[in-house]
Amino acid sequence: MTPARAREHVTRPRPVEDLVVGRATSDGAGVDLIRVLSQDLQQRLDPFLLLDAFGSDDPEDYIAGFPDHPHRGFETVTYMLAGRMRHQDSAGHDGLLEPGGVQWMMAGRGVIHSEMPEQQEGRLEGFQLWLNLSAKDKMRSPWYRNIQRRQIPEFVTPEGVTVRVIAGSSHEVTGALRRPTTDPLYLDVHLPAGARFAQALPAQSNAFVYVYRGDLSIGTRAVARQHLAILANDPGCDGVVVRAETSARALLIAGRPLHEPIARYGPFVMNSQEEIVRAITDFREGRFAEP
Ligand code: CO
Repeated sequence: MTPARAREHVTRPRPVEDLVVGRATSDGAGVDLIRVLSQDLQQRLDPFLLLDAFGSDDPEDYIAGFPDHPHRGFETVTYMLAGRMRHQDSAGHDGLLEPGGVQWMMAGRGVIHSEMPEQQEGRLEGFQLWLNLSAKDKMRSPWYRNIQRRQIPEFVTPEGVTVRVIAGSSHEVTGALRRPTTDPLYLDVHLPAGARFAQALPAQSNAFVYVYRGDLSIGTRAVARQHLAILANDPGCDGVVVRAETSARALLIAGRPLHEPIARYGPFVMNSQEEIVRAITDFREGRFAEP
């Protein structure tokens, strides 16, 4: 692990605009999960469409996995904290996602894939984030990258905060991936009790913090475990400052909004209803599986 290369200068931190509690649901072949960012927030948190947190010690909750299903028009980012997940898709790709690793998949014009737990026992824990694509990128050829734990840059601040930089950059440490247009920042921040962490954010970007261990505070607001704090977009604010009330872990995610219409039907996210109808037809007629 490397020390932080620079400090982030935040003089006017963003306040919390709203706190959202994750909602228990299930998806795939009956996998229990917490939907943290749901469809009603996709406009406010543009370009982010969804964040699911899954975590269980009971294989009954996850073993059925996510058998073959399609996606079109956006990117899925799967970050594993514990356990292993096998990915296979219609383009013939096959990869094993291991603890601490990330799979970044650009569905583009369409993939059919499965995401299946590769274990019969033990803990499975992680997150899946959906990141929208701009109209000009929705019908691009799909691709994905498996990023193993050791390929994700990590640094530690003088206050002992450990930061994993999955995408974007923080404290002059460049993350494992950069994406055009939405320019996402995806950090996993581990704070000892009492520590503070500052991150500069462009004023126009939409940003949120999801606490998955312990308790944080942001400005005057307490943010407990399993809560998502939407950060206000006040002009003049230049970042965020979080403080750990206990030892805590959180995701800090930000991106540049697309400001485009969102038409969404299940795993298809396009700009118009006509494009959704087209996606359904293409899927039914087998055009997702074509190279
Ligand atoms: Co999927």
